[in-house]
Amino acid sequence: MDLYSSIFTRKSTRNFTSTPLPEEKIKEMKAFIETVKPLLPDAKISYKIVGPEMVKGVGVPKAPHYFLIYGKEQPLRNTCAGFLFQHVDLYLFSQGYASRWIGMMKPKEADADFIIGMAFGEPEKPEQRALKDFDRKSLAEISEGKDSRIDAARLAPSGLNGQPWFFIAKDGPIFVYRQKKINGLPGMMYKMTDLDVGIALCHLAVATEKSGKAFEFVISKGAPAAPDGTLFIGTVK
Ligand SMILES: Cc1cc2nc3c(=O)[nH]c(=O)nc-3n(C[C@H](O)[C@H](O)[C@H](O)COP(=O)(O)O)c2cc1C
Repeated sequence: MDLYSSIFTRKSTRNFTSTPLPEEKIKEMKAFIETVKPLLPDAKISYKIVGPEMVKGVGVPKAPHYFLIYGKEQPLRNTCAGFLFQHVDLYLFSQGYASRWIGMMKPKEADADFIIGMAFGEPEKPEQRALKDFDRKSLAEISEGKDSRIDAARLAPSGLNGQPWFFIAKDGPIFVYRQKKINGLPGMMYKMTDLDVGIALCHLAVATEKSGKAFEFVISKGAPAAPDGTLFIGTVK
């Protein structure tokens, strides 16, 4: 399976076996990460792969491996991290492995540059999903204008499944907006909507590349006015 097909069938898992990935697979995955073109040319996102003894947090699923994802202050830091590691989520799924973003997880060793974690390993049972089984907002709720790549962005995972994104497709480019906050009590606790938009941008990138075009995202001015409750982030050219 390729990354694009994974978008339409993937599912997060909470139930991993305790079996670690073979060393060779970890090596291949690290090599894959090196091939991902960053969202912004100067983005600097780093990571560690650790075992369960190095992480803490409420409700963290038991898994053989965790990514701890880091970055110093930089433009769209969390968005760049979401973009890079959603490629890894799709890669793992395409290889028969599974993962889950974990906003509630922290490294045992505190670090001010820590952004978020992700559990990964072998799923207890292989999980696949049909399109109709994705619990997602409709295209009309998250977009204006037509561009088939938005079908892929719509299916992106997000914290609390909040899907805090909006897209306006107009004469080629896609203008990307972030919902300022998630409503209600959950929204008071959840502050990663910028990272979620990076995840959706990854799906846009994979869909763009699938169509044989290069993906380019720029922080630009001159976008259609931001819909109520959203902020303009940038443009997919
Ligand atoms: C940024 C982010 C943080 C998340 N944090 C958690 C978490 O702390 N605990 C958890 O069980 N799931 C977490 N999730 C998983 C989401 O709940 C899940 O992706 C969403 O419900 C959509 O389901 P799907 O990934 O199966 O499509 C997180 C997902 C994202 C993208």
